[in-house]
Formats: sequence, C-alpha cells, structure tokens
Amino acid sequence: MADNGRKFPAIEPYRVKTVERTKITTRDERMKILEEVNFNVFAIKAEDIIIDLLTDSGTGAMSTEQWSMLMRGDESYAGSPSYYRFENAVKDIMGFSEVIPAHQGRGAEDVLFSTIMQPGDVAISNGFFDTTAAHVANNKGTGINIPVLTKEMYFKDGKFKGNMDTSQLIELLNDGSKTVRFVLITVTNNIGGGQPVSMANIREVSAICKKYNKPLYLDACRYAENSYFIKKYEPGYGNKTIKEIAREMFDLVDGCTMSAKKDGIANIGGFLCLRDNELATLCRQDLILKEGFHTYGGMSGREMETIAVGLYEALEESYLESRIGQTAYLGKLLADAGIRIIKPTGGHAVYFDSTSIVPHVPPLQYPGVAVTVAMYLEGGIRGLEMGSVFLAKQADGTEVPPKHELIRLAIPRRVYTKSHIEYIAAVIKYVKDNASTLPGFKITWEGNNPNLRHFTVKLKPLAPINSGKKHSRKTEDNNNMIKSV
Ligand SMILES: Cc1ncc(COP(=O)(O)O)c(C=O)c1O
Repeated sequence: MADNGRKFPAIEPYRVKTVERTKITTRDERMKILEEVNFNVFAIKAEDIIIDLLTDSGTGAMSTEQWSMLMRGDESYAGSPSYYRFENAVKDIMGFSEVIPAHQGRGAEDVLFSTIMQPGDVAISNGFFDTTAAHVANNKGTGINIPVLTKEMYFKDGKFKGNMDTSQLIELLNDGSKTVRFVLITVTNNIGGGQPVSMANIREVSAICKKYNKPLYLDACRYAENSYFIKKYEPGYGNKTIKEIAREMFDLVDGCTMSAKKDGIANIGGFLCLRDNELATLCRQDLILKEGFHTYGGMSGREMETIAVGLYEALEESYLESRIGQTAYLGKLLADAGIRIIKPTGGHAVYFDSTSIVPHVPPLQYPGVAVTVAMYLEGGIRGLEMGSVFLAKQADGTEVPPKHELIRLAIPRRVYTKSHIEYIAAVIKYVKDNASTLPGFKITWEGNNPNLRHFTVKLKPLAPINSGKKHSRKTEDNNNMIKSV
C-alpha cells in the first residue's frame, strides 16, 4: 500500500467491531455449484462466494456513525428531518442550490434526461456508464463517448487517462447536423478502466460548454476518488483538501447525478443536483411519478441519514489513501505475476486481460469466462467478465469480439483486508500458472437482449475442466491456500 513517504506502511483507518462470517467452501463444492449455475457466476448465491469482486456499488461497509444514524431516520413522507440533514450535507460538499433525491444513480439519470432530452438529441461523454447510455437511448437520443483513452493505450502507463477528448468535443459541437443536448463527464471513468479525470480537463470542457451554451453535468459517483487522484498527481493540488478539490470540480459544472452506493458509502440511494431552479422544478414533478416525493425520492429516512454521514467519510484522506492504495496493491501483485493489467490502476477496480492468462482460448470461446470460472473454482472469488460474453453480441445476432477480453475486479469499500487482497492475487496467480489446460466455453442459452445476455447466459466448457493433470488439485490443497495467505 502507498506509504506516502512515511516511515511505516499505511494502514486501514478503521478497526473491526462486528464481522460477517464467510463460508469457506471446498473446491468440490464449488465445482458442483458451477455446474448448477451453468457456469454463469452471476447466478451463484452470494453466501457461496468467498470474496465478491463483482461490484463496488452498494457493497461497502458502513461505519459505526452511519449505523447509529439509522435510529435517527425519520420516515415521514414529506419534510422529514432526515431529508434536510441529507440535503445540508450535499449542499455543503457540492455547493449546488437544488438537491433532488433518487432511489439510486440511475433514478437521477432517468429524471434528468427525460426532462431535458428530445428525440434525436445527442449527448456527449468521456464514458457513459451502461445504465446512463441506456437512459440516453430510452429518450431516443444518441450517446457519444469521446475518451482520450484509446484501447491501444490500456496497458501503458499514463496520468488522467479518464479525460475527455476536447478536440472531438469541439468538432461535435461545430457539427450543425446534430443537436447536442448536454455534455457529461464521468468521474472516475468506470467504463474506461476507472481512470481519473484531471481538473484541467474538467475546466477546459467547462469553458467549451459555456462558449457553445451547452449544459455540463458530472456523473459524480466516484468524485471523492477522482479528487484524491487530482491531489496526488495534478500540479498545484497537493496542499488542498479533498473537499476543496471536490468543490472546485463541482463549481465548474451545472449539475450532477450521483449514485450514493459508491462515494456515499451507502448500500442504496442517489441524487441529482442542479443550479437551475426552473429545471429543478420540472425534474421534481417527474420525480413524484417515478421516484417519490421530493423529500425522499425513493429512499427511506434512515438511508438518507447514512448518506449524509458517508459522503463526509469518503472525503477523508486517510480512507482514500488506504482504498486507492488497496487497488494499486492488488494491481501490482497481479502485474508482478505476469498478468496484463490496465495501467495505472484506477480507483475502484483492477481490470486485467484474461488472454494474458489463457492465450490459447480464442475470443469466441470466451477466455474471460474460462478465467472467471477458474477463479471461482480455485478460490471462491467472483469477478466480472467484460469481454466477448458481455460485449460481442450485435443487434443483428452476429458476434464481434471487443478489442480486449477484460475482467474487472471491483473492490468494495472498507470490506476486505490486506490478506484478502493477497489471497485474491495468489488465487489468480495459481490460475495463471495452471492455465494451459483450461478449456474455452460455448453458450448453450442466452436471452434475446444482446446488451444484457451476460446476466443470464448459460454456458458449457468445451472440455472437462478437471482434465489437465495440474487441475486435479485436492480440496485440502485449496484449504491450505486459504490458510497460508
Ligand atoms: C459511473 C456510473 N454511473 C452511474 C451508475 C449507476 O448508479 P446506480 O447503480 O446507483 O443506479 C454507476 C453504477 O455502477 C456507475 O458506475
């Protein structure tokens, strides 16, 4: 972990008060489970997972302060004091005059986009998250991603690889055939490897949007993590607090959508912020229909209380140092084991190329599945395939593999310890060292929505998974590995 020039290593700035027991399954049990779920790890029951890296969204551990606020939750339909505590925290940190609660980030996106968009509109981003892109499409618009990051740059080092390409932005804004309704910067850029966006880039995009009279919003899910990267790597920010940096980012935009499941360190919740009072009034009318009255927006009072506390906790530098350090540490251990990772590691996840583990499995035999299945089988770890199962299927029914067969290991906030991280790396290294006989897969069933098939797809290995000599490990070996890290 990062030691920031200190004498001693950085530590997690929290201690354990209550624990959630993990069931340590055996390899034989996991093999049976994999067969039962047709080798789709989405279908595995959470209690049968040893380490769950499917997402960092809503999976964080709340603090004692957050838990204690649950009792304070006031569940009045209208005007709950919990709403006002939540609103005050959001206003204090983000500085917007209008705060509109929503049940989670996509609820805020839905309300904003359906209020401002017309059919045929274009919306531009450094990287629309999938639900965000889906809401643009749902309003009969077209989302265009213009990241600076090309797929060729994924595995090379660099800073602020989440930035938006401003020359493409100007080109699109000059194109008279398109009505650009809004521009949205996602911090950090989840679909682009969790890479941060620099303040300079946000400032430049903001100036361009002002010149062309286009509203600029932030998808602010991981704004605290992004602010930490700015503090660490952008000249001139080293002596500013994370809160000051965050405020400077928000001051450059007209509003934001937020999933409190990330840097709100809450299990559910979200909100929309705006400066434009007239637009906020329209959004609140839509909100009543879709999310709920504007002093709860689909959240309970106790959830709003936890967010009011969590937003501040996510700004603590010692927490961010430990969290981003944990991600970087996992990335380093994997890179040291010869696994190709997206560099540098971003805030919330490590992304790695599954073909650096199973180069013998061609894209349409799903190398990402071969590796995620092996990670579960050998160590009970669940990761997310972001390769051909996730991305290859086209609307016309054909399959076009993406440029990279990635796997995302998203790290829940404040949940896992250093030894868990070392265990994850040890399991994946073991999978790599014994990968030569791992088979590819074929799809035996899929749903009819090409964008969503990964959730429910059924698969079958093209050869028995245990066929290789190296894969006939006994259950005891597995238990030894768990104990030894
Ligand atoms: C960048 C980004 N935007 C929006 C969302 C949607 O948030 P929610 O899951 O709360 O609807 C996510 C969720 O993962 C995300 O990562």
